[in-house]
Amino acid sequence: MIEHLEFAARIAGSIIREGFGSRIEIEYKTNISNLVTNIDLKAEEAIINYISNNFPTHSILSEESGKSLKDEEFLWVVDPLDGTTNFAHGLPIFSVSIGLMNRGEIIAGVIYDVMRNVLYTAELNKGAFANGRKLSVNDNDDIRKSLLVTGFPYNVDENPDNVIEKFSKVIKSSRAVRRLGSAAIDMCYVAEGVFDGFWEVSLNPWDMCAGVLLIEEAGGRVTDENGLRIDIFEKQIVATNGKIHNSLLNLLSEAGREAMQ
Ligand code: IPD
Ligand code: CA
Ligand code: CA
Repeated sequence: MIEHLEFAARIAGSIIREGFGSRIEIEYKTNISNLVTNIDLKAEEAIINYISNNFPTHSILSEESGKSLKDEEFLWVVDPLDGTTNFAHGLPIFSVSIGLMNRGEIIAGVIYDVMRNVLYTAELNKGAFANGRKLSVNDNDDIRKSLLVTGFPYNVDENPDNVIEKFSKVIKSSRAVRRLGSAAIDMCYVAEGVFDGFWEVSLNPWDMCAGVLLIEEAGGRVTDENGLRIDIFEKQIVATNGKIHNSLLNLLSEAGREAMQ
């Protein structure tokens, strides 16, 4: 199956690469920060056509066109362009993310870093790779020496789940925190051992599906903010090299508690 995910991601990638820097059409979704472009839609159409032609009975959950429920067995979870804001502003950090679930379990995932031309791939119990090179999370166990990454939801002005206080707490307790603007790429860098950890709230399944498997297959740990098993339909994620996981969970819950006082 992984070849099919790779193929679909590359088709979308070439549409996105061609669209980058050209005149694009932008529309607003929920608010002025939440964009969709004609290139998101074109890339999505190409992926959906690829899946429907090759696997006509499979179900698809895709960001811009929702869910087509056919088969209970296989569900493709697709973000045709993760990092639309970067794309629309000409910042070359964005990706295509495609995950495949079998009866609720993620069995394959690919994330294509379009402008770096790096294809991240993972299959259940078979490891994680970047352009064929095996990936492994790093082994830093000290949160104060950690380089972390996070993201903010489009309604950050409402400060959901005290994201601002959590960010403030973690940035003061670690070496640095980055915000790249593509959750899928954030997760690739955790799997690769560049970042020690990533957390975010208000994510959607298509932002996380492939990245979760990639990090787990690279030896990392992925949970919700309570340290419970990740459920990609439950919006929040904490994903690390495993060694700093509890420290990061503690900081997030401390910040949450302090914000409620
Ligand atoms: C967004 C990116 C961003 C994250 C947002 C996502 P999109 O996805 O992954 O890094 O902070 O929460 O919605 O809208 O560019 O596909
Ligand atoms: Ca996304
Ligand atoms: Ca998207």
